[in-house]
Amino acid sequence: MFRKVTTSLAAFAISAAFLAGPVLGADPVVIKFAHVVAENTPKGQAANKFKDLVEERLNGKVVVEVFPNSQLFGDNKVLEAMLLGDVQLAAPSLSKFERYTEKLMIFDLPFLFKDMAAVEKFQKSDAGVKLLESLERRGLVGLGYLHNGMKQLSSSTALRVPEDAAGLKFRIMTSDVLAAQFQAVGAVPLKKPFSEVFTLLQTKAIDGQENTWSNIYSKKFFEIQPYITESNHGVLDYMVVTSKEFWMGLPDDLRIEIKKALDEAIVFGNMIAEKKSVEDRQKIVDSGRSEIIQLTDAERAQWVEAMKPVWKQFEEKIGEDLIDAAYNSNM
Ligand code: LMR
Repeated sequence: MFRKVTTSLAAFAISAAFLAGPVLGADPVVIKFAHVVAENTPKGQAANKFKDLVEERLNGKVVVEVFPNSQLFGDNKVLEAMLLGDVQLAAPSLSKFERYTEKLMIFDLPFLFKDMAAVEKFQKSDAGVKLLESLERRGLVGLGYLHNGMKQLSSSTALRVPEDAAGLKFRIMTSDVLAAQFQAVGAVPLKKPFSEVFTLLQTKAIDGQENTWSNIYSKKFFEIQPYITESNHGVLDYMVVTSKEFWMGLPDDLRIEIKKALDEAIVFGNMIAEKKSVEDRQKIVDSGRSEIIQLTDAERAQWVEAMKPVWKQFEEKIGEDLIDAAYNSNM
């Protein structure tokens, strides 16, 4: 009898210790990384790379859970959720921070950056690096920029000159600058989450949208939009953010290793962004589903002329010096 009791007590102790394993001080830090795009995109690939690097190097101490395709939170909720501690990492496009800071509006000014090299140069400049701190008073920490690429205009009708867009409805990200950009050509902008764009286009609730080649390809917008104007009129890039509370609450050694892994994942994501801006464009051409419209210099000049007054409209909010600094990165 005594033996039986001791055996079952021992068995209980072993299973309790086993069950309690992760709870007793050795709990891994869990980083939920939520994003809205597909996995075969620059951001999707960067997030997966980050997970691989962290889990390989911090073996059991940190677990990264990646949620693509707005599975956990969509555009409008993710930053609120981050401040509540429900998600630890996200990389919203720079157009989606307007409720938190006006400074990042700089990135939405139409025709400000002539290409991604200019965007990169600006982001690496003192002014660009300082912008990573612009969310701190709202409890968020900018950990780095991540590229996607230049935006193109897709539409149900061919867009060659600004008048072609007049009266058409375009989905935009939550940005007043982007709203002003479409109003400048007489179009109707509608702020909608990324997860709704395909259905809005399919049901013809909207006529068009602006996005990068990788987003147009991975979300199949090209299958339901007969025209894409290669306008390169603006940039769609991201800021990888976390909450100050989470970030500063990490032990120093883990924070350093996590940041290192993130920096490497960003370099990897940027390489994918460069590749995809060419490859996904080509896949769309090869599909024959959508006609790609190349603008002549004279046509492009008309879009620039129509949209450029938006810079003045937002100059006071963004700051003239910042606009100059960004503009000078084209040189
Ligand atoms: C969009 O909403 O169009 C983009 O911000 C999606 C993304 O994250 O690339």
